[in-house]
Amino acid sequence: MASFSRLLLLLSVLLPFAHSVSITSTASWNITNDPEGSVHLNGLAFQQQALSTFGDYQYVAFYSTSPKGYGHHYVNLGRRRVTPSLGDWQYFAFSDYEQTTLDEHNTISLGISGDGKIHLSFDHHDVPLNYRVSSSGVAKTIPAEWTQSAFGGSVVHSLPGSTGPWTPLTYPRFERLANGDLLMEFRIGKSGAGDSYIHRYSSSSGQWSAVGKYLQGQDNNAYINGITSQDGKLYASWTVRETPDASTNHDFYFAFSEDDGKTWKASSGTTVTKPITPSTAGIKVYTIPQSSEIINQEAQCADSKGRFHALMRDKSSGTARFYHYMRTAAGVFSKTAITVPGLSTPPYLSYRGKLASVGDTLIAILPDAPKNTVTIWGATAAGNFQDWKSLATITNMAGEPLVDHERLKSGVLSVFVRQGGPFGTRKVQVWDFGLQL
Ligand SMILES: *[C@@H]1O[C@H](CO)[C@@H](O)[C@H](O)[C@H]1NC(C)=O
Repeated sequence: MASFSRLLLLLSVLLPFAHSVSITSTASWNITNDPEGSVHLNGLAFQQQALSTFGDYQYVAFYSTSPKGYGHHYVNLGRRRVTPSLGDWQYFAFSDYEQTTLDEHNTISLGISGDGKIHLSFDHHDVPLNYRVSSSGVAKTIPAEWTQSAFGGSVVHSLPGSTGPWTPLTYPRFERLANGDLLMEFRIGKSGAGDSYIHRYSSSSGQWSAVGKYLQGQDNNAYINGITSQDGKLYASWTVRETPDASTNHDFYFAFSEDDGKTWKASSGTTVTKPITPSTAGIKVYTIPQSSEIINQEAQCADSKGRFHALMRDKSSGTARFYHYMRTAAGVFSKTAITVPGLSTPPYLSYRGKLASVGDTLIAILPDAPKNTVTIWGATAAGNFQDWKSLATITNMAGEPLVDHERLKSGVLSVFVRQGGPFGTRKVQVWDFGLQL
């Protein structure tokens, strides 16, 4: 007994802060019936974002079936108050645009600029830009009615004030900067041959301008894990694909910018020539050969302590694993397998996960495809981000979870998920997990 107490004492001295994250409350909402058919249009890892908080409200973007039925979808936008207390969801559908391509690329991305305007881009797979924006700052001056009338105009195929190319476009992403300006990032080209561009919306002038092409393929293309602005730095990490075949994904690349994407640096801090190509010196951080079962566009985030985190899986060790890539504030990279009890080995091309950070806590939201679940884990800086602790498991899942990074800052992990099961019962849901940090 005495030695057991001493062991506990020793453990509490050795692990003073590890495992300090826990869940204090859980709630979920059905957002819509997921559209009919085998194709996923809601909940793909490259949607940046589908669920995002701005001020006192949270917003969700999703497709629902239009009155015409199978194969016809509307873009929907929901909102609810989250501060100081939770309100009910309100939704409307944009009935002037029908989405009809059954293709998992053709998702919706949502961005909110500091002036409160809500920007949406959707329905792309190597086609001209589709973009629409609210006519006023509806996320700042909150309208009593939640209807399409708040959005005024129609879908446009360029960003007002900026210069193209605008086609063939895929994977639009939005990221707000600290001053309220909004970046838009997308690929021009196609799988195995494409370039990545950034445009910037000025929250003061309401106009877009081109920041330029920052990644350029060499008869291949970069698939980014995300584009993340944190404390004055903009981070990108990616893998490179040689052909449309996903097995030709290779290597882990990283760059950061200290001027919001105008110029870029390698991990060492050395400024690199723009556009960055796969052969730009210092850009490749980890060599991972083709046919290693990397899945492009998994996840990344940055934390308030200057660390950068990415999630990408591979089978280079012989067993497929999720890996946590981390770059410290001092610029030192590590790649560590996420080995947690009970999590299945991710099958090739199975659903992708997410990472999110709050303070010294890192949250991994990992689909366990063989078990049809989404599992949520927490790790801490004190535990070297290897003290993964199971926080929650969501059952009956068949899709890629998305996370509200903004809301996490207030201690609520809010995730967007797609259920499994047949059309009619299969819901798109939002889950809230209150966190004790
Ligand atoms: C979501 O919908 C299902 C029916 O498909 C129902 O059983 C469940 O109670 C609903 N959940 C919530 C939180 O309303």
